[in-house]
Parts: sequence; C-alpha cells; structure tokens
Amino acid sequence: MRILIINGPNLNLLGTREPELYGSQSFEEFLKTLHFDGVEIDYFQSNIEGEMITAIQNSRLHHDGVVLNAAAYSHTSIGIADAVTAIDIPVVEVHISNIYRRENFRHFTYLASRCVGTIAGLGLKGYELAILYLLSQK
Ligand code: DQA
Repeated sequence: MRILIINGPNLNLLGTREPELYGSQSFEEFLKTLHFDGVEIDYFQSNIEGEMITAIQNSRLHHDGVVLNAAAYSHTSIGIADAVTAIDIPVVEVHISNIYRRENFRHFTYLASRCVGTIAGLGLKGYELAILYLLSQK
C-alpha cells in the first residue's frame, strides 16, 4: 500500500512556527518515526495552491490513499476541494490544531464534505491515525 501525505502552506515551518499551536517537531523529524508494515509513505509539501492540486490529481495514479493538510487553503480553496472530488481514492483531512477552538474563519473547510473524514486537534498524531484508518479500509 502506498500513501501520500500532502501538507499545504506554512507547514514547511513546523517545529518553529507557533510551537504552542503546532508543536516543536519538524515534519521531517516526525516522518522518520512513521512506520507501518507494508506501507510506503510519500510526502509532498507546497506553499502553492496549483502545485497541491497537481499532486492531488497525480496521487490517483500512484497511491491508494491521501492524508491532506491543506492548511489555510482548507478554508479558501474550491480548486483543492474539486481536486479531492475528482479522484477516486480516499482522502483524509488532517489539521494539527483544533480548528474548532480557533477563529471562526477556521471552522469551515471546503474539504470536510469531500473527504472520507476529518481529524483535527490531535497534533501530529492525527497523521498517524489517518494512515491507520486508510490501512483499515484495505
Ligand atoms: C492547520 C489549521 C489551519 O487553519 C491553518 O491555516 C494552518 C494549519 C492545522 O494543521 O492546524 O496552517 O491546517
């Protein structure tokens, strides 16, 4: 099984960006700790909406599922939401912080209704749980 994790804008700064919200571990360090038998995990991060759309489109050719943290684009991007709808592999939405305990503009995401589920507020653990879910569906 092959899973793609896609992180959106500013998540390249994990570890130093608002650590009280997002923790002090970089995503690269976290990735090294993720191991699942029989699962290959690929990682893509971009600050650019179109690059994320292309990555989502291409995932249908090479992957069995996607874990997507579109970051701020979750709240603004119909293009990313449409890309999720356009592919036929499961996509799990993840947010590191609890977006429902934050500003009102973070409470709505264009992705929630297009993804198989959403995990928010469980820190980086959310990515691991999303992968466990995808594995359980195989
Ligand atoms: C985030 C939450 C978003 O509202 C924010 O814009 C991010 C990160 C999260 O992982 O908690 O950049 O997606």
